[in-house]
This record gives sequence, C-alpha cells and structure tokens, in this order.
Amino acid sequence: MKSELFETTDEFHAAERPRRLRRLQALRRLIQETRLSPSDFMYPIFVDRRVTKRQEIESMPGIYRLPLSDVEEEVAEISGLKIPAVLVFGLPSHKDATGSESYSSDGVVQQAIRTIKTASPELVVASDVCLCQYTDHGHCGVIRGGTVANDETLRILARVAVSHAEAGADMVGPSGMMDGQVKAIRAALDGRGFTDTAIMSYSAKYSSSFYGPFREAAESSPLWGDRRSYQMDPPNRIEAMREIALDVKEGADIAMVKPALCYLDVIREARGKFDVPIGAYNVSGEYAMIKAAGQKGWLDEKRVALETLTAIKRAGASFVITYFAKEAAKWLQEV
Ligand code: PBG
Repeated sequence: MKSELFETTDEFHAAERPRRLRRLQALRRLIQETRLSPSDFMYPIFVDRRVTKRQEIESMPGIYRLPLSDVEEEVAEISGLKIPAVLVFGLPSHKDATGSESYSSDGVVQQAIRTIKTASPELVVASDVCLCQYTDHGHCGVIRGGTVANDETLRILARVAVSHAEAGADMVGPSGMMDGQVKAIRAALDGRGFTDTAIMSYSAKYSSSFYGPFREAAESSPLWGDRRSYQMDPPNRIEAMREIALDVKEGADIAMVKPALCYLDVIREARGKFDVPIGAYNVSGEYAMIKAAGQKGWLDEKRVALETLTAIKRAGASFVITYFAKEAAKWLQEV
C-alpha cells in the first residue's frame, strides 16, 4: 500500500551512506583507523622479595606478586607473546623512613632487571622509580615537617635510577611527581655514563582513586594523609600540559598520562602538543572494574578490554601500560 508519505522519494533518500563501508567484516577491517597489536603493550610485573611462591593479588585477578625465581619464566612468556616491554615494580624485604632498599644494588628490582636482561635481552625493561613501596610511611618521598621534601627526595630518586641503570634497565620511570625529578635523574644518569638509558616520565599523574588495587599489590598505601600535595588534581587539564612541557624540557624521552580512561582528553591533547611518544597507564582500578564485571557476567570481559585498549590508542597513546597485556595479546591472535 502506498502512503502519501513515501511518494517524495528524494526527501527519504540519504545523500551520503557511510553504512556502505560497514557491510562486511572485511570492509570494516580495511578501513579500520586504529589497530591494536601486542606491540602496543607494556606489561607491569610485581616482584616480591618475601615470597617463595607466586601470590595472586585479590583485587587484580590473574596478576601475581612473583618471587625472583619466577621472573625468568614470566618474561619468557611475555616475550613469546610478542609484548615488547615490561615495567618492573618491587616489594622489598624491609621498609624504612627513606626507602633505602630502593637503591640497593642487590634490591629486588635490581636483581629482577639483571635476570630479565640476561634471560630475554631483547625485551625492553622499564623500571618504576618511586619510594612509596620502600618507605615505612608509604609516601613517595622523604618526610620533613609533615610533608614530602621535594629536593631531598630528588637525591634519592637519582640514586634509585642509577642503580636500575647499572642493573641494565633500558628505561627508568619516575612516578613520584616530584618537581625536577626528570632533570635530576638525567643529570645523575649522564654523570655515570648512562647516556643511553631513557626516561619515561609519569608526567601527568593524577591523584586518582583508581590506584586502589595497585596499592594492595604493592603495599604502598600512605599510612597517613594522601598524595594530593604531589600528584595532580583530577579536574586539571592545562596543568597537565605544563607538567609534560616541563618534563620534555628536562629531558624526558617519553611522557606518560596516568590513569588512562578518565583522562583520554589529556592523552589526546598531549598527543597534539608534544612530539615525544605519549604513554598511557591503564591502571589497576581500570583493570579491576572490567575483571569484576566480567566475573559477575555483567560485561563481556574480552570485548570490553579490547574496546578500552583501542580507545586509549585512538585517543593518541603511543603505547599502553596494561595488566591486560598478556590476555589481550592472546585474544588478538584469535582474530
Ligand atoms: C607508585 C605508583 C603507583 C602506581 C604506579 N606507580 C601508585 C600510586 O601512585 O599510589 C599505580 C599503578 C596502578 O594503579 O596500576 N608511585
């Protein structure tokens, strides 16, 4: 039956038809703007001095604290999955006021780095340079007069970075948000001849509630107070550009935005403004949310995780630090 409404065909004739290119899976593949591959990932690992068997982190299913004896096997798996890089975090055997185990040449991270570079020399080893796992108060620096003393902390961070470089780290990642940390670390590395050790700076690191599961994993919650006097305030974007600009000026080879999901606008803007690679940290809470909803059957974990990683890359990240790296690398092989 013909109705009045359908007689004027031109009004109901779409002039442009983007749907033409969505008809077939192969067509969609052909015009895909963002492609995810295992090369996009850096995988964080936690090495724990005090354990002899791997321990699963409750709020991060599938992620473990590893004894040193498991590191070789773990990195063999990571390399086998064609993931190019790991980020090493350490849990020391003891904590003190200045986090002195952080720069010990036989500290847990230093040993892990040596093991990895011997077992898998091609794997890029980045290391987290911060004190919060090593201080008894859990803050990211030395405390003076009730607050973190910036410049005194810089001296320790420089020592930590040099100790990681000596162990063979390809890249050091200062994550404490101390002012001038990149400059101090660059000077210390260069002064010891480590001119080829790169700095991946956690430049725009926000004071985020998405770090909760990590703090369980790394036992790095501050005993009192919070990190708001050094990490960035979530509402600020312009300030993030200032932080990145400072780090680039101080010699950062890579700038990072962290967390990723609530800060995709920051990643996007940083990508447009700076010509260094921009890393994005898909943090523990972002991982935990997807895992938890997946376990409950409320979300399709695999699809949501891949969509998330794709979005972070689409926003402009050069690579993504993610706890999903191993699983995502396997999922990507399936298609
Ligand atoms: C250490 C550090 C943290 C993370 C990476 N390095 C925790 C924090 O700042 O409290 C968080 C990583 C994550 O949540 O996955 N300063």
